[in-house]
Amino acid sequence: MTALILVTGGTGTLGRHLVPRLLAAGRGVRVLSRHAHEAADGVEYVTGDLLKDEGIQAAVDGAGIIVHCAGGRKDDDVATRNLVRAASRAGAPHVVYISVVGADRVPVVSAADRAMFGYFGFKLAAERVVAESGLPWTILRATQFHDLSLVVMGQMAKLPVIPVPAGVRFQPVDTDEVAARLVELALGAPAGLVPDMAGPQVSSMADLLRTYLRARGKHRLLVPVWLPGHAARAVRAGANLAPGRAVGHRTWEDFLAERVPAPA
Ligand SMILES: NC(=O)c1ccc[n+]([C@@H]2O[C@H](COP(=O)([O-])OP(=O)(O)OC[C@H]3O[C@@H](n4cnc5c(N)ncnc54)[C@H](OP(=O)(O)O)[C@@H]3O)[C@@H](O)[C@H]2O)c1
Repeated sequence: MTALILVTGGTGTLGRHLVPRLLAAGRGVRVLSRHAHEAADGVEYVTGDLLKDEGIQAAVDGAGIIVHCAGGRKDDDVATRNLVRAASRAGAPHVVYISVVGADRVPVVSAADRAMFGYFGFKLAAERVVAESGLPWTILRATQFHDLSLVVMGQMAKLPVIPVPAGVRFQPVDTDEVAARLVELALGAPAGLVPDMAGPQVSSMADLLRTYLRARGKHRLLVPVWLPGHAARAVRAGANLAPGRAVGHRTWEDFLAERVPAPA
């Protein structure tokens, strides 16, 4: 019998690509969500909240594999601790966790670091929770998803003059390609920390933004701003990039061509 797969964050940006791929692989899928959902398309839903530590036991019971994609801007370590505690009570499921490239290289020490890059610290702490859980585990660190870049650029483009962090580069990756890799990892043997997954191109934030603005037919003035702090310095030095692991295929331009309608 094949193990039931619990996907936390199965309703999120990544999860919406991952769940259909797991179903297509012939696996039974359960999704944990904070909101009630009717079972649909072969997916069972359990309502629960990882931060409030509610409903988790019902979600993990009977799951042989947990792909942990639920997350927010903060407290991923707390959510992950609650998840692995319940999972350990349920048995010894394989926990597959999605983290971020640079989790171990972006230092979060000062108030400025925490305000702007605290996310990296929470991801590293959550990775440690998984690795020290006693459960079989796999962790994949990915770079920023194109979908997130699209949201961020859309918000920035609302401003008539856009402050752009100077010297900051990204290597955005396609969400669906990350989902495909997670399926491979979830269906394979626990592998520990696996090689990073990054997109095909490293680009400055300003260039990503210019490409977005061009695709939307918008004109904006970009003003470089220098971000303070240890984390910002590390990011300017490329701590959030993995040029040696540019394994993603879909470029930002290709993504935009499909997702952003051509300007009239
Ligand atoms: N976005 C990126 O560029 C990027 C890059 C590298 C790694 N990652 C990591 O990939 C994962 C997925 O990211 P995403 O962009 O798909 O996120 P997202 O679109 O914001 O989705 C977040 C998901 O987490 C669930 N969730 C949030 N808080 C929860 C809680 N307290 N209890 C239970 N579920 C909760 C939400 O489910 P409900 O709303 O249904 O409860 C939702 O499905 C995250 O761990 C993120 O750190 C993201």
